[in-house]
Amino acid sequence: MANLLIPWLFLVQTLTIVAKTRAKVPAVIVFGDSSVDSGNNNFIPTIARSNFPPYGQDFPGGQATGRFCNGRIPPDLISEALGLKPTIPAYLDPMYSISDFAVGVCFASAGTGYDNATSEVADVIPLWKEVEYYKEYQQKLKAYLGDRKAKKILSEALYLISLGTNDFMENYYTLPNRRLQFTVNQYQDFIIGLAADFVKTIYSLGARKMSLTGVPPMGCLPLERTTNIMEDHACMEEYNNVGLEFNGKLKGLVAKLNSELPGLDVVFADAYNLLLQVIKRPSVYGFEESRTGCCGTGRFEMSFLCDPHSPFTCQDADKYVFWDAFHPSEKTNRMITDHLLKTSLAKFL
Ligand SMILES: *[C@@H]1O[C@H](CO)[C@@H](O)[C@H](O)[C@H]1NC(C)=O
Repeated sequence: MANLLIPWLFLVQTLTIVAKTRAKVPAVIVFGDSSVDSGNNNFIPTIARSNFPPYGQDFPGGQATGRFCNGRIPPDLISEALGLKPTIPAYLDPMYSISDFAVGVCFASAGTGYDNATSEVADVIPLWKEVEYYKEYQQKLKAYLGDRKAKKILSEALYLISLGTNDFMENYYTLPNRRLQFTVNQYQDFIIGLAADFVKTIYSLGARKMSLTGVPPMGCLPLERTTNIMEDHACMEEYNNVGLEFNGKLKGLVAKLNSELPGLDVVFADAYNLLLQVIKRPSVYGFEESRTGCCGTGRFEMSFLCDPHSPFTCQDADKYVFWDAFHPSEKTNRMITDHLLKTSLAKFL
């Protein structure tokens, strides 16, 4: 009897494993800023670009795609981990078509924020317009796959939402308008309100599985450290604290939205602490430098200032936590992604 049971148990177990490894998520759909933009800004007139060397030097084929990194960014790595494609194409890139976008599409735009005013700083795609592109995508997907199949993909897809840093760094702390209007605490609440509206909007359009990413320790971005002359380029504690507070509110919003909207499964993706640890003790994590980025002097260079002819650009970006003065290196992106796949994103695997 026991001998007969064992193969059966084994078979049942095998079937469960097969069911589990089959991708539950049929597509990855991305909204946000440069943390997740795979090159939409190449196709709009803006200075917030990165489709030239040394960007992309460690990307497959050494190609500068418009990702603000030496290599791949978290949505690419997440897509790959879900058993989908190893890169997620930019929606505005004419090299790709709806057959590519059916399994992964990116609407993100470097330099954008939740606040319309943030997207105006560098003339990039505002979040409401990312949603307009998403609506257009839905129509194309329905024409391509038929209504029923398209709706199934749209409701089972994983939506990655990553922005907010620019609202504070490029807008609130750089320009006067929002500071005259709001205390930083009020501005956080304003942004949280816009994040809630955004989630409700894409929910009403059929999105169900979402990951809402918090902000990093913003005061430790090399660009912010560069301005901290009085404290020998230490992290700007005020910006870090604002980031922590904002993330706390975002986490609260996620709980509220899950209880309010039936069938919604939104998670809060938090890499703040991991990134702070890596920045504080880079050698523990296999890095040599966390105060400056690899590109140029690493203190202020990003976008067009990250110059292909700079003699200062590092040889091995893997030794750097940051690739440019504002964006993590691919190695850091991998570390962040592995962390998220083990925590908030685990339920979607
Ligand atoms: C942002 O701009 C869009 C388009 O003009 C508008 O529909 C939306 O209401 C604006 N959002 C806010 C919060 O002002």
